[in-house]
Amino acid sequence: MESEISIRVKKLTKSFNGNKVLDNLDIEIRKGETLGILGKSGIGKSVFLKHIIGLMKPDSGEVYIGAIDIVPLPETEISIIRRMLFGMLFQTGALLNSLSVGENVALPLREGTGLTDAKINNKVKEKLELVGLKDIEDQMPDSLSGGMRRRVGLARALVMDPKIILYDEPTSGLDPIIANSINYMILEVKKVTGATSIVVTHDLNCMNIIADRVGLLYDGKIMALDEKEKFLNSKNPYVQQFIHGKIEGPIKIG
Ligand SMILES: Nc1ncnc2c1ncn2[C@@H]1O[C@H](COP(=O)(O)OP(=O)(O)O)[C@@H](O)[C@H]1O
Ligand SMILES: [Mg+2]
Repeated sequence: MESEISIRVKKLTKSFNGNKVLDNLDIEIRKGETLGILGKSGIGKSVFLKHIIGLMKPDSGEVYIGAIDIVPLPETEISIIRRMLFGMLFQTGALLNSLSVGENVALPLREGTGLTDAKINNKVKEKLELVGLKDIEDQMPDSLSGGMRRRVGLARALVMDPKIILYDEPTSGLDPIIANSINYMILEVKKVTGATSIVVTHDLNCMNIIADRVGLLYDGKIMALDEKEKFLNSKNPYVQQFIHGKIEGPIKIG
């Protein structure tokens, strides 16, 4: 199954208190690809994703989801598009600790559809199984390991069968082995859903496993966007400094 939705961002600009985080940023995400965006902490990766999913409004610029520019739309319409088309895995998994695992995964279905409890329960089971979890619906998030919480977050992101999936640092805070299990799970999700996906991270290994094309976010713009192999071999000094973790170079530290 191939997703039908591409994303096009034009001249996206956003400042906070005079700090220009996104500066005339242009990018196209192709139908069905997984685009990786690397960037150091605090550079604007989460801000970028929030604009794509319409949780933030830019100072100027356009965000086309398919043929529709969502920037001028009122929140009521954006929230419908968000619910119908998007799944997002937030940086920490973002589970509600007061709800069971099953209730967490079911949340988008309860808010957005008129499905019966039986249908909702089936869908929750199906998505939990897709991320390798069985019979844990009644457990509370607090009782789960970091890797399992991330998987539950992924199941929730998938429960509405999204055409677009956004991953905000899917491996942050996990040890390398658990991180890799999440990486391969995301790869599997990509095969099963065909969804157009964006992964932002500073984890090179995650990028290596998941992404088709990769770009570097720096100074409010996407640099050196290319097929993964070409990106990694790029002579762009920003890319070379970032991927080799060099202290000397054009990227300012801090
Ligand atoms: N809601 C907000 N209000 C003010 N500043 C913000 C807000 N969200 C993000 N920022 C600022 O924007 C910059 C980029 O943040 P973020 O996108 O979270 O970085 P990253 O995800 O790359 O670590 C940071 O300087 C951050 O302080
Ligand atoms: Mg972030």
